Amino acid sequence: MEFIAKNLEDTAILADFFASAIKDEGCFLCLYGDIGVGKTAFCKELLKKIGVGQKVTSPSFVILNEYKGNHLPVFHFDLYRLEETGLDSILPELIEYSKEKVITLVEWANFGEYELPLDRIDVNIEYNFDLGENSRKFSFKARGSENETKLAKFKELVECR
Ligand SMILES: Nc1ncnc2c1ncn2[C@@H]1O[C@H](COP(=O)(O)OP(=O)(O)OP(=O)(O)O)[C@@H](O)[C@H]1O
Ligand SMILES: [Mg+2]
Repeated sequence: MEFIAKNLEDTAILADFFASAIKDEGCFLCLYGDIGVGKTAFCKELLKKIGVGQKVTSPSFVILNEYKGNHLPVFHFDLYRLEETGLDSILPELIEYSKEKVITLVEWANFGEYELPLDRIDVNIEYNFDLGENSRKFSFKARGSENETKLAKFKELVECR
């Protein structure tokens, strides 16, 4: 399932619809894509939409930020700095927050590929320079039937906009 965001505002709209589709059930979302492509930007907008009032910052140095949303707790990981040292220090939390009904966002999920739950949604964000420096291509993939339902709802919201 692919969408083009022409600019940051479009990314914000996508994140808003995604938030609406997952806010009640929760979601384990893995975000992939190059440095500076917009993983945190997508997360920030998503978290705003689900009622995280406080400022959302990139967890690239702290590895994990926790927030309280309107409905569900939120865990925002960034695995980038664990590329070399490995995931051992954070693995208990990653596993814990994939079981409960929560919203878990994992940037640089490729560095934890073998440790991540099988039931999840993956989103790959790519630069799309053909359409300008702020354009991005978002490719979503659901793993597991519940996640397929959430993505179908998301698609419907985007297409009805
Ligand atoms: N369409 C777009 N979607 C998202 N971000 C965009 C877009 N156009 C421009 N930007 C800019 O790109 C930057 C994205 O930075 P962001 O921190 O979200 O990237 P990241 O993928 O999380 O990087 P990192 O790998 O360092 O964690 C921001 O400065 C944002 O304003
Ligand atoms: Mg980031």
